[in-house]
Amino acid sequence: MNKLLLAYLRNAVRAKFSRSQWFEPMVATLYVTPFCNLRCTYCEDFGAQRNDDYRGQALAGEKQKRVIEMLAQVSDVLYVTGGEPTMRADLTDLLRHARACGFGYLAMNTNAVTLRDHEGVLDELDMLVVSLDSLEHGRFDSVLAESPGTIRAVIDNVRWAARLQRDRGFTLSITSVVTPYRVDEARRVRDFCFEIGAQFAAQHLSIGRLPSVELDNDPEFHRFMEELLADKRRGLPISGSELYLRRTRTMEPYACTPTVAPHVDWKGRLAYPCRELPNHIQVDMLAAGSYAAAFAEAKRRYGPPPSDCSRCGERCYVELSMLVRKPTALAREALGYLRARAT
Ligand SMILES: C[S@@+](CC[C@H](N)C(=O)[O-])C[C@H]1O[C@@H](n2cnc3c(N)ncnc32)[C@H](O)[C@@H]1O
Ligand code: SF4
Ligand code: SF4
Repeated sequence: MNKLLLAYLRNAVRAKFSRSQWFEPMVATLYVTPFCNLRCTYCEDFGAQRNDDYRGQALAGEKQKRVIEMLAQVSDVLYVTGGEPTMRADLTDLLRHARACGFGYLAMNTNAVTLRDHEGVLDELDMLVVSLDSLEHGRFDSVLAESPGTIRAVIDNVRWAARLQRDRGFTLSITSVVTPYRVDEARRVRDFCFEIGAQFAAQHLSIGRLPSVELDNDPEFHRFMEELLADKRRGLPISGSELYLRRTRTMEPYACTPTVAPHVDWKGRLAYPCRELPNHIQVDMLAAGSYAAAFAEAKRRYGPPPSDCSRCGERCYVELSMLVRKPTALAREALGYLRARAT
């Protein structure tokens, strides 16, 4: 993880002593497929109803592996997502390749519906992130809602994965999108995480790439975020830094450093300066030949990233940007982690 540490230190020094916006990559996110087997009502990019629109777009195995190699040149950490990653038959092979390319930390986000068909991924991952918003209603998905057996299967798969953490050497994190007036459902998922020995992460609902105003106006949401902070201080497994958890509640400005979190889609296109700005551009990494060449092309076409944007609530960008700008907060997190392990 030397590359990550060095990039962090250089970024923190740059943030402290200069006005530069050129921050080095720390965590790369790769969308391995746009296909999905669910239809979560809030998902704006993917869902089974959109699969036909994406047909034939995802890179085949060898090209996808080449993109993984390019990302390994600049980042120690790879976060695999989609669409639904388990829709790729070669998922385990891709993760194994990522490890062979030198990634020191591999994480993957899944809805876990068919997780057991890809058991091999558990041997490759450091972190398995399963999305689960409710123990009763699935994820407002019409297919799930009509077949309660599927919801039960997801929960069974989560319990199964939780039991395998120690033997297979990964950490399970459950992430819930918190939606207005349904905060109690996220509370129940949090308690379920504590019961099965998984981490719990809360995500702020986005609408049109912006944090939901209705959720911000729900006092129960604010109470819940305070509870999570208190849980974390007590050493309970709440995912996310205190800085990030507080910001998710207050939505205070934070001056994003989007280039710390490069996002690459299923066609191998780097999003610049981030995936969330409506005017972002995309550069084909395979055509460019390397991450550095794709980044240089993006810079030339778009110019520098914004210097004071706080527009979206996307955790990958928000959390890394805040920690780059506040190294003392990272040190506090590390101490809290060590204290929790010692008790
Ligand atoms: C797009 S999904 C891809 C991975 C996988 N299909 C899954 O659902 O875990 C990645 C994450 O984005 C979250 N997400 C999707 N739409 C969202 C929205 N409108 N607001 C907040 N989070 C959202 C999902 O809940 C999931 O945790
Ligand atoms: S499972 Fe993930 S990708 Fe699929 S619709 Fe739901 S949030 Fe979107
Ligand atoms: S805050 Fe969001 S929209 Fe703004 S630069 Fe960062 S990632 Fe992009």
